[in-house]
Amino acid sequence: MKNKIYLLSASLMVATFSFFSCVSSGEKETGKDEIEKKVENLLGKMTLQEKIGQMNQLSPYGSEEEMYALVKEGKVGSFLNIVNAEVANKIQKTAVEQSRLGIPVLMARDVIHGYKTIFPICLGQAASFNPDLVRESARVAAIEASADGIRWTFAPMIDVSRDPRWGRIAESCGEDPYLTAVLGKAMIEGFQGDSLNDPTSIAACAKHFVGYGAAESGRDYNSTFLPERLLRNVYLPPFEAAAKAGAATFMTSFNDNDGVPSTGNKFILKNVLREEWKYDGMVVTDWASATEMITHGFCKDAADAAKKSLDAGVDMDMVSGAFSGNLENLVKENKISEKQIDEAVRNILRLKFRLGLFENPYVSTPQSVKYSPEHLAKAKQAVEQSVILLKNTNQTLPLNADEVHTVAVVGPLADAPHDQMGTWVFDGEKAHTQTPLAALRAVYGDKVRIIYEPALAYSRDKQTTGLAKAVNAAKQADVVLAFVGEESILSGEAHSLADLNLQGLQSELIEKLSQTGKPLVTVVMAGRPLTIAKEVEESDAVLYAFHPGTMGGPALADILFGKVNPSGKTPVTFPKMVGQLPMYYAHNNTGRPALEKEMLLDEIPMEAGQTSVGCRSFFLDAGSTPLFPFGYGLSYTTFSYGNLKIVSGKLTVSDTLKVSVELKNTGRYEGTEVVQLYVQDKVGSVTRPVKELKRFQRVNLQPGESKQVMFDLPVSELAFWNIDMKKVVEPGDFKLWVASDSQGGLTTEFNVAE
Ligand code: GLC
Repeated sequence: MKNKIYLLSASLMVATFSFFSCVSSGEKETGKDEIEKKVENLLGKMTLQEKIGQMNQLSPYGSEEEMYALVKEGKVGSFLNIVNAEVANKIQKTAVEQSRLGIPVLMARDVIHGYKTIFPICLGQAASFNPDLVRESARVAAIEASADGIRWTFAPMIDVSRDPRWGRIAESCGEDPYLTAVLGKAMIEGFQGDSLNDPTSIAACAKHFVGYGAAESGRDYNSTFLPERLLRNVYLPPFEAAAKAGAATFMTSFNDNDGVPSTGNKFILKNVLREEWKYDGMVVTDWASATEMITHGFCKDAADAAKKSLDAGVDMDMVSGAFSGNLENLVKENKISEKQIDEAVRNILRLKFRLGLFENPYVSTPQSVKYSPEHLAKAKQAVEQSVILLKNTNQTLPLNADEVHTVAVVGPLADAPHDQMGTWVFDGEKAHTQTPLAALRAVYGDKVRIIYEPALAYSRDKQTTGLAKAVNAAKQADVVLAFVGEESILSGEAHSLADLNLQGLQSELIEKLSQTGKPLVTVVMAGRPLTIAKEVEESDAVLYAFHPGTMGGPALADILFGKVNPSGKTPVTFPKMVGQLPMYYAHNNTGRPALEKEMLLDEIPMEAGQTSVGCRSFFLDAGSTPLFPFGYGLSYTTFSYGNLKIVSGKLTVSDTLKVSVELKNTGRYEGTEVVQLYVQDKVGSVTRPVKELKRFQRVNLQPGESKQVMFDLPVSELAFWNIDMKKVVEPGDFKLWVASDSQGGLTTEFNVAE
């Protein structure tokens, strides 16, 4: 047994994938040729029915006997949601020994942010701005999932998400295409390991292709209206990065974009994915999204849905039955060709060969990997780097266990082992969750007196009976820790919200706690940014932990008491009010951008003149700025930026921009700063965003320590899809910022010559 299965070394195998192909470093070019020979050899033996069987993915239904009968008859190529090693092995044994050609079945599951050991939701992991950490988190998830026979996950979800009303923002890496591309690549490398045929490697799935995060009004499954240029400049880049990183599969999205459902969209699935990106992986639909094209009004029946999906470039049909029920007749009626089917089956067989399923169809990872100490430690580290310090007046944090004698722990998320794990957790067990209350008691309970009052039973609770006890506990304490936010059910798929204020009586709870005059630390666990301006105002310190997963408690306890200095940065804009949405930093300037200071509602005099508040782009009641901008996060220490320099001389498109800045830890604590590099293309053949993130680096410094931080940015990465729908760098003037967040920083300019 390869000992690497047990050891999650820091120098984790980082896969390097050949360009545009899923051939991983573990497969030499010859390996690729060998696989193609095996694919052709096997394909040549298959009947039409067996080919169609490979294109059929099912979720367990009916009796076990029915399931094994389908496998034996070669009518199913993949199962999702089988999460038991014995059952997986039994299915494989049936396929390998009893079906005519012995083709193994591919087991799949949504392993989004951990399998048993649950990591922070992906939006939380994105706040770490740490691709190495994200890669290691995915590696842990893959190792644990492979122990139950899972060799394919439907992750990473790399939909650029700019509207927190959309519950699936929780699964995303946030609003920025570059951050999403970097982290999506890291997740793919983590899931797929150094070679797909390692038994602990699981095929990744870049989803949801494409534009799903732009669902109109943030209402899930809603239509999107993304013009090609916006698709290419914002929504496609993370998927192109995923294809380059060797993502073994892609998944089509539910949304219809400009009237075309992705599952039937030839432009994205053939023109872009296959022809432009030369992608040779496998494309699966989302759950029943093939036949949902009937509901969309894009297909007239299941046969039409099967034809349009296959014509568009889909290889495998997730549970709709469109392929298994119609493809054979469509061939007989000459409405599709067997050649098209062969192309899809090649992609499926290629994946199975790459995974080594023919040589090694059975589970070999031991059950002991689940919740292993190494995995739990990695999950704790992921939380430590994901938590964002949003406010910390009067150095309320970190708490000093020698000075604080009594701590009031209150709120519905203080001891909520289920909700702490967040959305998309089918296999993590709440019994393993370590909550903040449990951790505080375990680690600090001998030093400080902890009074616990939940006040509310759950985030939506409107019962007032518990509030008084919480206030009373606060009055007895030196500091109040309030854990509020969202139950896990309130974010994730199909869980959109039109109001992002704290649910239930949580806001009243914070207000009453604030009125006691005791130092109030508010810790938010949620699947999205919430509109917490009032609660931030009422709190002395605020930590945003998203849904931190299994090890949220120990990590938060160590952050609260200063063993860990928070370093997270907002991966998405936090609006003041839901009415400001969609809101994101990389917006266009418009012809009338808001001024630094605008006259807002309460400042407008009676009978104000029509144009007296100016004619600029802002909300009278909410202004033009967010509550917290993208890339924002504080530290227990402070950092200064100085001496910004562009060290590269005259620049042309083929050059590399070299930028340096002096970063200094000017505070009392060791800390990590996420230094961010933004660039603005000042004039373009089409309007360009006011700035775009192009690089970032986590830099750890001791108190008083300085470091010269360097960035290399190939000018070619300033390319965008222009007025002629060509991806080019347009020479001209550019502005850059090196900053602590997307709103401020040191700035300078540079020119790119013809
Ligand atoms: C769901 C989701 C998709 C998931 C799939 C399988 O509806 O949209 O993200 O991977 O079905 O569970």
